[in-house]
Amino acid sequence: MKNGLEDVIAAETRLSDVDGDAGRLIIRGISLEELVEDSSYEDVAALLLDELLERPIGAAELRASLGRARGEVFVHVQAMDGTLTDLPPVDAVRALIARLPDGDDFGTALLLLAAPAVFLPAILRIREGKAPVAPTPSLSQSADILAMLTGSLPTAEQVSALDAYLVTISDHGLNASTFAARVIASTKAGLTSSVLAAISALKGPLHGGAPGPVLDMLDAIGTEENARKWLGQALDRGERLMGFGHRIYRVRDPRADALKGALVPLVATGQVDADRIRLAEAVEQAALAILRERKTDRTHDVNVEFYTALLLDALKFPRKAFTGVFSIGRTIGWIAHAREQALEGRLIRPRSAYIGPVPQAA
Ligand code: COA
Repeated sequence: MKNGLEDVIAAETRLSDVDGDAGRLIIRGISLEELVEDSSYEDVAALLLDELLERPIGAAELRASLGRARGEVFVHVQAMDGTLTDLPPVDAVRALIARLPDGDDFGTALLLLAAPAVFLPAILRIREGKAPVAPTPSLSQSADILAMLTGSLPTAEQVSALDAYLVTISDHGLNASTFAARVIASTKAGLTSSVLAAISALKGPLHGGAPGPVLDMLDAIGTEENARKWLGQALDRGERLMGFGHRIYRVRDPRADALKGALVPLVATGQVDADRIRLAEAVEQAALAILRERKTDRTHDVNVEFYTALLLDALKFPRKAFTGVFSIGRTIGWIAHAREQALEGRLIRPRSAYIGPVPQAA
């Protein structure tokens, strides 16, 4: 028995490879650095879905169809009531996705890709007493998400930054939510069921729930001079430093630098608070130093969540919605893995070692 299934190979995939020793992520044979440089969200979505649906779908067709799908799922926003608006945004997104049909074809995949992108901005606006903004099918997914969030057209730098984020987090090996998606797909349930299970796994603070607390940490630290003392006291209390550590990466998570790079044009054009970025860099250095000193049996480097927090904050997403934005980006990975599992895999049914009491012999 391997606690947490650490190092257990539980699937074969052609979708992505996480090399924890080298700090390298490959998606469909292309390095993350190259993908972020050259590809839009729609390019990567088409790449991940290649050969997994009933017919070939190029990026241009996917962009147009996804725009129309955003328009289609917008009708479900009317189902928002007080019960849903009171929930954390990711829970409200999950509840609305549960209204979609549970198919396994291109049409279902499109609705699932569109759904969190439309529902999250609408939920955030309704919570603030504002009317939801209808999607604009001709925009790219990233531009439309920001337009639906703010009610006005985003800048080119903002669109590029969100695109870089969505590409960076599109897929990442057999993480907990992707594994959940594959378990459901292995039973031959539909894609909607896989995505609902995956969102439920994602929302936990050890997986996709960390970036909000990263900002809370930066706020609590406040100044560069206070970083080391605050971090030391957090570790003394037995707390984990949010945005650091990873099950697989023993070196720096390559996604952290992809996102740090995506912030540069926003900083250069004055669209983000440069003092905040400086504070974050100082906190990062202090955290790495203190983790090196205190946790000597294993290295803990910065992970994707640290710069996710800064990027999504710069794009004006409220911190309580960060896990929901993560779900917008990761849905493509979940769908691709679910399809791969359904097409090539068997029912996932491991065994447990019973360590409870046994009946007394008569
Ligand atoms: N801060 C402080 N200590 C950390 C740590 C962190 N961020 N991450 C791991 N550790 C320590 C644990 O306390 C434990 O030390 P101990 O044996 O002295 O108690 C040791 O490292 C191993 O932890 P474990 O929980 O077994 O490792 P894991 O592989 O399950 O952890 C994470 C992976 C991501 C869950 C973990 O690093 C973490 O909780 N990070 C903070 C949350 C976060 O950023 N999540 C986003 C992940 S992308």
